[in-house]
This record gives sequence, structure tokens and C-alpha cells, in this order.
Amino acid sequence: MIFSTFVVLNEILMSTAKKQYKRITVKSLVDMKANKEKISMLTAYDFTMARILDNAGIDVILVGDSASNVMAGHETTLPITLDQMIYHASSVVRGIDRCLVVVDLPFGSYQSDPKEALRSAIRIMKESRAHSIKLEGGKEVKESIKRILNAGIPVMGHLGLTPQSIYKFGTYTVRAKEEEEAEKLMEDALMLERLGCFAIVLEKVPADLARKVAESVSVPVIGIGAGNGVDGQVLVTHDMVGMTHEFNPRFLRRYLDLYHDMTNAFTSYISDVKSGDFPNENEQY
Ligand code: KIV
Repeated sequence: MIFSTFVVLNEILMSTAKKQYKRITVKSLVDMKANKEKISMLTAYDFTMARILDNAGIDVILVGDSASNVMAGHETTLPITLDQMIYHASSVVRGIDRCLVVVDLPFGSYQSDPKEALRSAIRIMKESRAHSIKLEGGKEVKESIKRILNAGIPVMGHLGLTPQSIYKFGTYTVRAKEEEEAEKLMEDALMLERLGCFAIVLEKVPADLARKVAESVSVPVIGIGAGNGVDGQVLVTHDMVGMTHEFNPRFLRRYLDLYHDMTNAFTSYISDVKSGDFPNENEQY
């Protein structure tokens, strides 16, 4: 009884989430901000996860370069390559019907010169069939952003804690607590809006600053560790379903404890195989 009520409730939530927009575009996101509808964004790197997220009614899937950590086990996001990002992105695109897919330009694919940035963005769009790209940084990458936008490719900005610069920061702690950095962040956000970026991710910055940025720009600001005054939220899916369990920042809300649930399932399977209990008569031909 409780379970069936839960299923019905979930179905209602899913259909409400999907009702208003048949297909999410960059314009839908700007409209959502104008209508004060919060934007939901989560990461995916593969077909199966993308299918579940799209079916649940997520607005945006980010094929984040966090794949470098989550999928490949690297310590930072720096090692992932453009080819690897395209592989993940094309798997995700095959899994979705409705949501917007944003793909991170990986470290080294856009910082050296704007022409290379455009070539990388074109490869992502052509080879993965995703709908837009994201890149990290403000005025340092202005020319690259302009060139990508000129080619008709939608760009999402990313300010605050930008993990591709981790060796410059030296730590993953909250950014822009000091006035000078907060001022630069605000200037960068205004510049991204002026250039024509369709949205901005703000990672790990004080909630007051994030709210001010969201109030100052007309494009959606999507936060991760940036408080509730922004226009939407993003989390790494593997963290929010508890598949990863060593990573416990304050901003992370875990909706499941899959690390333990999966461990229990695997140990049960191992013991069923060892004992000869699996497969039983109904599980064979
Ligand atoms: O790569 C990623 O998952 C991201 C989010 C944390 C915003 O950039």
C-alpha cells in the first residue's frame, strides 16, 4: 500500500515535471528564469543513467568533465580528453528524448587559442549531437567564447570554483569570499551575459554573492554549493545517489545510499552463487 502510493506520487511528480516543456532548449531555460521556475540539472556520462534522468523529468543533463573523477578514477578533471568526452556525450544523447544536453569542454581543448576552442566545440556538437557546451572561466577565455558563440553553438559559463584550475587554487574550498575575487566574479558573470552565454554555473561561492549574481543577470544562474538564491541547482548524480561515499561536502544532499545498497546486493549475489542457491529452478531453461 505504502509502496503503491509512493509509485503513484512519483508518476505524478514525473508527469508534472515533463508537462510544460516538450523539449528543453536554451530558450526554455531563459523562460524558466523569467517565470521564476527553478532549473534542475544533474550529470550523466552514459546511456542508462541519461535515460533514467530524462524519464524522471530532469531539465538539463550535464556531461561533466567530472567523468574524469567519477568514471575514470582520476584525482582531478584534468586528464579527460576531448575524444573521451565525445564518447560519454554521444552515449548520453542516445538516451534522451526531452532534456537539454550540455557537454564540458575538457581541460586543454580551449584555453590555448580561440580557433582550437571552436574546433573542439564543433567536434562535440557534430560527433556527439549534444545541444550545447560548457567551459570554465571569465575574461581569460572571452575570445574563445565569442568565437564559439559566433558559430551558433550555445555556451554555458562556469565561474567560482573551476576544477580545471585546481592547481592554481591549490584547494577545493569556497571561492570569492574576499571582496576582490567577488568583484571579479561579478564582472565575469556580467561579461558572460553580455557575450551571449545562455546560462552560468556558479560553483562553491557564498550564497549572498550567488544571489546577487543571479539578480544581476538575465540568464539563469545554476548553483552547486552556491545556496538557494540562484535559478537552478546541479549536483553530480553519482554523489547524490550515494554511489560515491568518500566525498561529503556540506552542499551535497544524498537522496539514496547506493554504495551500501549495491554492496549488499553484490555480497548477496556472491553468497548465492557460492552456495549454489542461484540460479534456482525458475531461473533456468
Ligand atoms: O563536471 C561537472 O560535473 C561540473 C559540475 C560540478 C558543475 O562541472
